[in-house]
Amino acid sequence: MFQQYASAYDALYQDKDYEGECDFVQAAADRYLDHRPATILDLGCGTGGHAIPFAQRGFRVTGLDQSAAMIERAERKRATLNGHADYARFEVGDARRTDLGHRFDLVTCMFAVLSYQTTDADVLALFQNARRHLDTGGLFVCDYWHGPGVLTQRPLTRTKTAATPTETISRTSTPTLDEANHIVSLDIVTRHSRPGQRGDESREQHCVRYFFPSEISRLLTAAGLRPLHFCAFPQLDQTLTDHDWNAAVIARAN
Ligand SMILES: C[S@@+](CC[C@H](N)C(=O)[O-])C[C@H]1O[C@@H](n2cnc3c(N)ncnc32)[C@H](O)[C@@H]1O
Repeated sequence: MFQQYASAYDALYQDKDYEGECDFVQAAADRYLDHRPATILDLGCGTGGHAIPFAQRGFRVTGLDQSAAMIERAERKRATLNGHADYARFEVGDARRTDLGHRFDLVTCMFAVLSYQTTDADVLALFQNARRHLDTGGLFVCDYWHGPGVLTQRPLTRTKTAATPTETISRTSTPTLDEANHIVSLDIVTRHSRPGQRGDESREQHCVRYFFPSEISRLLTAAGLRPLHFCAFPQLDQTLTDHDWNAAVIARAN
C-alpha cells in the first residue's frame, strides 16, 4: 500500500511536527511510567519520523514497518545520525505479529498506524503484539482517527503539494465514507513534476478506520493493556471533543 507513496512521504510531511509529537510521548511517559524509558519500539515507524528524533534524544529505538520502501528511507536517515546511529534500528515486519524477541519500556504506534488496521481482529493483534513487547507496567502510546471528530468534520477531498530541489509533488486524496463499517477509503493520486521532463503519476487506495473510545478500551483490555488516558492529539491535557479528528490513548501493560 505504501510502495509508491513512500517516495513522496517525507516531502509531503516535511511540515509535520514530529519533535512536538515526541515531546507528547515523553510527557506521557513522564506522567504514567515510574521510570525514564530507555527503550522504545515504534510500530509502523514509516520513514523514522519519530524514531530518529527519539534516537537523537538518547533513547534506544527499534522501528518496525511492513513497507520495505519506508524502512529503506528510515535507514538512510539513521546513517546520518551523528554519534547516535547505533541508537536506532529498523526492521521490516508486521506490527500485528512480528516478534522481536525482547521487551521495551515504551511501545508507540503513531500517525494513524492503528487506523490502518481495519478489522477488530487486526487491531486486537496489534495491541497483543504491543503487549508482548512490554513488561508489566510498560506503556503503550498510540494516536488514531477519532470517530466523533471524523463524523462531525466529514472527510473532504484534499490536495497537498510540496517542492523539493528536483521536483514538485502533489497528492490528491479523495475520500469515500463507509459509516456502517467506520472506514474512510482514500483514493490517493500522487503526481511528480520535474522541469523539462514528463511528469509521472501513481494511484493508491488507503482504507482508514476511525474509532470510538469504547472500541479502543475494549480491544486494549482484551490484549492485556489497561487504558489510562484519552486526549486530543497531541495535547495531553486536552479533553477529547466531538470536534477532534485526532485522538491519542495511553495504556499500561497489566
Ligand atoms: C501514515 S504512515 C505513519 C508512519 C510513521 N509512524 C510516521 O509517523 O510518519 C502509516 C505507516 O503504517 C505502516 N503500517 C500500517 N499497518 C502496518 C502493519 N500492520 N505493520 C507494520 N506497519 C504497518 C505503513 O507501512 C506506513 O508506513
